[in-house]
Amino acid sequence: MNLRKIGLSEIEASVIGFGAWAIGGWMWGGTEEQSAISAIHTAIDNGVNLIDTAPMYGFGRSEEIVGKAIKGQRNQIVLATKCGLVWDSADWQTGKGELHFYSDKDTIVDESKSTYRVYKYLRPESIRNEIEQSLKRLDTDYIDLLQTHWQESTTPLDDTIGELIRLKKEGKIRAIGCSNASLSQLNSYIKSSQLDVDQERFSLLDKNIIQDGLFDACEKAGVSIFAYSPLANGLLTGKLTAGHEFGKGDLRTSNPRFQPENVNKVNKKLDQLKPIAQSHDLTVGQLVIAWTVAKYNKMHVLCGMRTPNQASENTKAGNITLANDEVQKIEEIFS
Ligand SMILES: NC(=O)c1ccc[n+]([C@@H]2O[C@H](COP(=O)([O-])OP(=O)(O)OC[C@H]3O[C@@H](n4cnc5c(N)ncnc54)[C@H](OP(=O)(O)O)[C@@H]3O)[C@@H](O)[C@H]2O)c1
Repeated sequence: MNLRKIGLSEIEASVIGFGAWAIGGWMWGGTEEQSAISAIHTAIDNGVNLIDTAPMYGFGRSEEIVGKAIKGQRNQIVLATKCGLVWDSADWQTGKGELHFYSDKDTIVDESKSTYRVYKYLRPESIRNEIEQSLKRLDTDYIDLLQTHWQESTTPLDDTIGELIRLKKEGKIRAIGCSNASLSQLNSYIKSSQLDVDQERFSLLDKNIIQDGLFDACEKAGVSIFAYSPLANGLLTGKLTAGHEFGKGDLRTSNPRFQPENVNKVNKKLDQLKPIAQSHDLTVGQLVIAWTVAKYNKMHVLCGMRTPNQASENTKAGNITLANDEVQKIEEIFS
């Protein structure tokens, strides 16, 4: 598995990262802990050292599972988590931060059915409170990469960045990232000369970061991109058939992308990828991941993997190098 340095840091992380959202269960119809732990172990055995999680993924559940899975090998892992989505802080009752959504323990719901109000909130004291909880759940005393999960307008960005720099000086974190940023927010982080990673949605179906200028800005500043949802939540594996029934609370149930007509349309395009995939002895899902890796020499691809089989399949894409004309051809098919 190829390794790349993260941003301005000396941290070397695998090009394929284990995305730990789905194993938290929330928004994904539940989780099976043993399968999740085995998936992480399979990914590590196949050369993955990067794991991306967040407090929000299952209200702490994903971090707890990751903590259990990496016990005894913590120092071989590049552990990335996030801050800035708060659901249980007393602060949200005083109206600080920005309301993001309502949720019960399983999925996003209407206010009337909600257990939690989730706020975007990046005040220094809240970040500090969050990281202490993450360290406990992950059973560690440092985080390799702390990323602000969503950006918000009630806290001056300089205050947020200032706290991240303090945490780095204290040794609680080793690198700094942001996520779901606008171009101007990204540029503010870059101006601080402290940004190592921008984590954004990026796949053959989601190329907004190119159109919106974030891709270029990262490239110019030497900031790594962590591509999230590279398989468009599983749609780009080609394994879904029209009418597939997802579990209760699974985010894909209500997503128009997963309606039969669109699933058929995407599968037809994926069929066109098969000759290139077969020439490398890859599945189309692996080819899609390899395309994402090839887009930038500081790209890391965060793949969700819930089972050892998925981990085994997805991680193999980290050993593939595509030729430029193949990268272009794949893009043309999805243009
Ligand atoms: N910063 C953010 O706001 C943000 C947002 C989203 C994601 N992320 C990060 O990015 C990671 C990945 O994103 P994602 O989980 O949305 O999407 P993804 O990688 O596009 O899709 C993952 C899902 O696809 C299915 N899948 C994966 N590999 C497969 C295979 N080989 N064969 C068949 N199905 C397969 C699995 O679901 P089923 O088995 O249920 O089909 C899996 O949970 C997350 O875990 C998280 O770390 C960050």
